[in-house]
Amino acid sequence: MSTQADKLSLLQQLKAKKNAVILAHYYTMPEVQAAADFVGDSLALAQAAAQTDADIILFAGVHFMAETAKILNPTKKVLLPEFSAGCSLADSCPADKLAAFMQQHPDHLLLSYINCSAAVKAMSYCIVTSGNALRVVDSMPKDAKIIFAPDRWLGSFINRELDRHMILWDGACHVHDQLTADDVLRMKKRYPNALVLAHPECRPEVQQNVDFVGSTAAMLKYVKNSDHKEFVVLTEEGILYEMRKQNPDKILHALSEPEPQHIGCVDCLECKYMKMNNLDNMIQVLTDETPELLLDAETIEKARIPIERMLTFK
Ligand code: 13P
Ligand code: SF4
Repeated sequence: MSTQADKLSLLQQLKAKKNAVILAHYYTMPEVQAAADFVGDSLALAQAAAQTDADIILFAGVHFMAETAKILNPTKKVLLPEFSAGCSLADSCPADKLAAFMQQHPDHLLLSYINCSAAVKAMSYCIVTSGNALRVVDSMPKDAKIIFAPDRWLGSFINRELDRHMILWDGACHVHDQLTADDVLRMKKRYPNALVLAHPECRPEVQQNVDFVGSTAAMLKYVKNSDHKEFVVLTEEGILYEMRKQNPDKILHALSEPEPQHIGCVDCLECKYMKMNNLDNMIQVLTDETPELLLDAETIEKARIPIERMLTFK
């Protein structure tokens, strides 16, 4: 049986032989992040996918992320270690239902969070991530009529922060949506000296009770730049791997303590889809170069425009 070190070494060999690049999200397991050439949040991963000159992109993330990489690199081979790694948020917004909703608001522009299907992206004016949503919306005229899909909580965060009145699609992420104000208050009581951070995919009752609301990358930056020593981090717990690497001297708490040692902990803030990526299926898919993520040319052409519009925002 090969060890983790053997598997990491095999992946490096395959990568070099095939001119492949491995991109991984912060929510994947530590060994997956360790195998990656680039680890980032959704925005940084989209930027990395736009810039790569590799022939193969192995995307250790979820389906919509691999689709975004394919849309930006139609001639490259994009591989996803586990094809059923979906996203409850993307699934909460079927393109046909959104199209019917748009017809009720024909004078509105569609702004879509990157956590959506390629078909939804193809209908959108501009894509945003949690890392740039405030900048993108702030650049639009105050009286612009906007429908924001699919995350109602990120949408309501933007509306509150920028005093906007975007119409919100009623979608949510099953990981972040399970957090309540009671969870925040319990963690504050348990760790009275800690600052509490949360992702904007969390409910307003959570956002309003924490010290900082920000995307994955924004939370990493906040902790790194803060003089404070102790934090409670309310988002998918995979982020703690990178956060601890960057801040060995700081005390970082997750909602579930002790933290999960296994995949699929029901009480933990874990994205079961992100946790479907592992070294074995990464080796498998890179060896076989199949199944490949494919999209039709029309969807690619239409979805590319709003993604590229987003990438012009620094
Ligand atoms: P970010 O990577 O933009 O923080 O989004 C979090 C997320 O849920 C990714 O699926
Ligand atoms: Fe989707 Fe939520 Fe998982 Fe992110 S954490 S991939 S939004 S289900």
